[in-house]
Amino acid sequence: MKPKVIVGKHAEKPREVLPLVRNIIAVSSGKGGVGKTTIAVNLAISLARRGFSTGLLDADVFGPSVPKMFNEEKYRPEVRREKDADIIIPLSKYGVKVLSTGFFVDPGDAVIWRGPMASNFLKQLIMQGDWGELDYLLVDLPPGTSDIHLTLVQEVPVTGAIVVTTPRKWHWQMP
Ligand SMILES: Nc1ncnc2c1ncn2[C@@H]1O[C@H](COP(=O)(O)OP(=O)(O)O)[C@@H](O)[C@H]1O
Ligand SMILES: [Mg+2]
Repeated sequence: MKPKVIVGKHAEKPREVLPLVRNIIAVSSGKGGVGKTTIAVNLAISLARRGFSTGLLDADVFGPSVPKMFNEEKYRPEVRREKDADIIIPLSKYGVKVLSTGFFVDPGDAVIWRGPMASNFLKQLIMQGDWGELDYLLVDLPPGTSDIHLTLVQEVPVTGAIVVTTPRKWHWQMP
């Protein structure tokens, strides 16, 4: 039996962008190398194993590492032409539909995506990705706050966010 989906506040009303995706969860952090991708990938696969239809969008345009985590660094998505629009077919692996900016560039070339170009590319992956019906779409973001983050919140109704941090001992002093 299919588990009950936790429906976010945006998910109840129909919307134009990704109308068949019930929850869009952003995974972010203040700095790099804290475990965003590790969390996003493992969460996606765990959700899929529990019976939720799950997608993973690697929006870390400046250092996409989802292809490596899926051991699909050479994967190049098929693009299908449908009614004057190009539809990008995600990789399906471990029960998860995956699109990464890394699928479109050779590892050393990732740095070419800058500013509006990077944002437009992310928009294409969101709008033209063949995501179908999903319970969860996880978005692995670059570290910090950038145009990519702005693009995401402007383009899609994010239903939840995970902020990954590293533990620190809190030194608090009386002023
Ligand atoms: N909970 C953890 N404990 C120890 N190492 C971790 C943990 N989570 C991730 N790592 C390691 O830290 C490094 C960075 O993780 P990654 O998920 O790529 O971070 P980010 O996406 O935030 O840059 C990787 O080598 C990963 O294996
Ligand atoms: Mg990462």
